[in-house]
Amino acid sequence: MSAIRGVKGMNDVLPDEMARWHALESAFRRKMHLASFGEVRTPLVESTSLFVRAIGEATDVVEKEMFTFSRHDEQMSLRPEGTAGAVRAYVEHGMQNKEPLTRWYYIGQMFRAERPQRGRYRQFWQAGAEIIGDPGPACDAEMIDTLVSFLDELQIPGIKVHINTIGGKETRQRYRDTVVAALTPKIDALSEDSKRRLTTNPLRILDSKNPADQEAVLSVPPITDVLAPEDAAHFDALKKHLEALGTPFVVDPKLVRGLDYYTRTLFEIKGAEEKLGAGSTLVGGGRYDGMLKDLGGPDVPAIGFAAGMERLLIASERDVPETRAQVFVLPLGEAGTRKGLVLSRALRNAGIAADLDGRGTSLKSLLRRANGQGARFAIVLGDSEVQSGNLQVKDLAAHEQHEVTEADLVAFIGAKLASGPAVLAEKGGAP
Ligand code: HAM
Repeated sequence: MSAIRGVKGMNDVLPDEMARWHALESAFRRKMHLASFGEVRTPLVESTSLFVRAIGEATDVVEKEMFTFSRHDEQMSLRPEGTAGAVRAYVEHGMQNKEPLTRWYYIGQMFRAERPQRGRYRQFWQAGAEIIGDPGPACDAEMIDTLVSFLDELQIPGIKVHINTIGGKETRQRYRDTVVAALTPKIDALSEDSKRRLTTNPLRILDSKNPADQEAVLSVPPITDVLAPEDAAHFDALKKHLEALGTPFVVDPKLVRGLDYYTRTLFEIKGAEEKLGAGSTLVGGGRYDGMLKDLGGPDVPAIGFAAGMERLLIASERDVPETRAQVFVLPLGEAGTRKGLVLSRALRNAGIAADLDGRGTSLKSLLRRANGQGARFAIVLGDSEVQSGNLQVKDLAAHEQHEVTEADLVAFIGAKLASGPAVLAEKGGAP
């Protein structure tokens, strides 16, 4: 019978990768808590109409990439991103009546039916945050700067911050008309996708990777030509704040982003190309001042970002040691196994990680496994140790053996570990 495989583009994370995931999650949580963000957890499933209204019908995400299904006459989708759900929760819980300014962060799976490749999956993890209630531009700069210091902490090389402004709703509409007017005479030169987008979502043509589109786009006037004075002032202030913070950035007039809800500030952060390839973005974000009102909530401004966690892990050069059991308990025979159960429990209750290998294989192979796993100590429990109550504790890092009574075992190992290295417990770390 053939084995059942996982769904295409949806990956397992096995325990030996988990140390890096946990380190990433705790670094993110720490950064967010230091900047006064609280964690929000919203469902993986929302009404399809939420995403259609928030993200926009003519976006790739809504048009082609959602996992949608019906239950009890209700159409639902697996969330393709976290902002729409966070805003839905904000409105539903009347947060604007509880606090003037809300800072939320989240960590969770998102789902998009994209063509899977390295760094692009159908289920992927995002670490994201939203600030609701602050029109910026200071909080725009603060958010970008916090992200840069987070990526630095992860030791991601070649970080580059791209920023742009798309203006307010009216500017966006005006610019849309400008783009259509500039590209319509060149329609024959455009790719099939862009021909279609000229009527559905013309701004997306600006960041097309197709060379023919890129050539045609050269004739499109920059957004600065149609920017309202308030939008221009917002963008100038953002740049000044970033300069004051010493956060390097490049203005990228072709940056438009793939979701329709953005207004004014847009940003993306990329890492070194060798890690993820050109065009692969680590973090994307921007301002979405109209979304809350569009979703039936109050008219409050908002900004947010999301980072792809798999991509952060591919790009990060930070070394994270894998933690393993500190003590390997190796019983030989039935009496030893029973004693091993009792001693492992005592060690674990004292906060010492203990692995019990009760398969009863040869001492040589048990010790080889203890060494390979990087345990600091191994305790072999043969009949004589069980009868005498005197245990032989092997310090695998210091190459020493100690005779310790059963009653003293926990205190002895606790003291050895507390007195610091003879080193470990890391996988493969023991000599
Ligand atoms: P986004 O640009 O669609 O923005 O996604 C943000 C990040 O999620 C990307 O830069 C990338 O690292 C990661 N990502 C997206 N799709 C995939 C995929 N198929 N596989 C792996 N990683 C992926 C948003 O989602 C917005 N909600 C961000 C935001 C929050 N804007 C305002 N607030």
